[in-house]
Amino acid sequence: MRLQLGVLASGNGSNLQAIIDAIEAGKLNADIHVVLSDKPEAYALARAEKHKIPCLPMHPSNYQTREDFDSAMAELLEDFNVDFLVLAGYMRIVTKELLKKFRKRVINIHPALLPSFPGLHGQRQAVEYGVKYSGCTVHFVDEGLDSGPIIAQRVVPVLDDDTEETLAARILEQEHQVLPEVLQWISEGRVHVDGRKVTIDK
Ligand code: GRF
Repeated sequence: MRLQLGVLASGNGSNLQAIIDAIEAGKLNADIHVVLSDKPEAYALARAEKHKIPCLPMHPSNYQTREDFDSAMAELLEDFNVDFLVLAGYMRIVTKELLKKFRKRVINIHPALLPSFPGLHGQRQAVEYGVKYSGCTVHFVDEGLDSGPIIAQRVVPVLDDDTEETLAARILEQEHQVLPEVLQWISEGRVHVDGRKVTIDK
């Protein structure tokens, strides 16, 4: 089925751009109904505008609690008839206020091989730990921190002279491929979750 997407982004929006490009290239059976950001200055919003996709900055400071913020966001997403939510470089933890409205219909992309290096700066954690491989993870979002069932991962080598920036660039190349790919699998109804295990029909 054609996915009716909402995308949450806090920064540059290159993962959002990868989704837009896949849709426009006919590789992803989806429409982006709205892009929301918790950062009014996020370049992700400019990317949406350029592609005539409705987009709105949200102001967390206008809300008493994280739950109030997420409730307002959930209502907005429903107003835009969103049926599947993508966290594409979204730097806030989502609360049950959002998850209860989109149960098992929220995915996130994280720049590390979870469960290693959750949270912020996954690339920096990998370089500092001295791992030989890192990568990215697409997972369903639950109420934990980067802890939902894993759908797909892509691996990249960590080179001796890597910095957080050089590793992040290598991981991003994989992110931009795997995120649209997972969304296409979901649109084809091929993704099945059983507890922590996710299986993809051939
Ligand atoms: C990506 O590395 C993503 O994995 C992480 O934040 C970065 C966002 O990049 N959550 P962009 O905003 O999609 O360019």
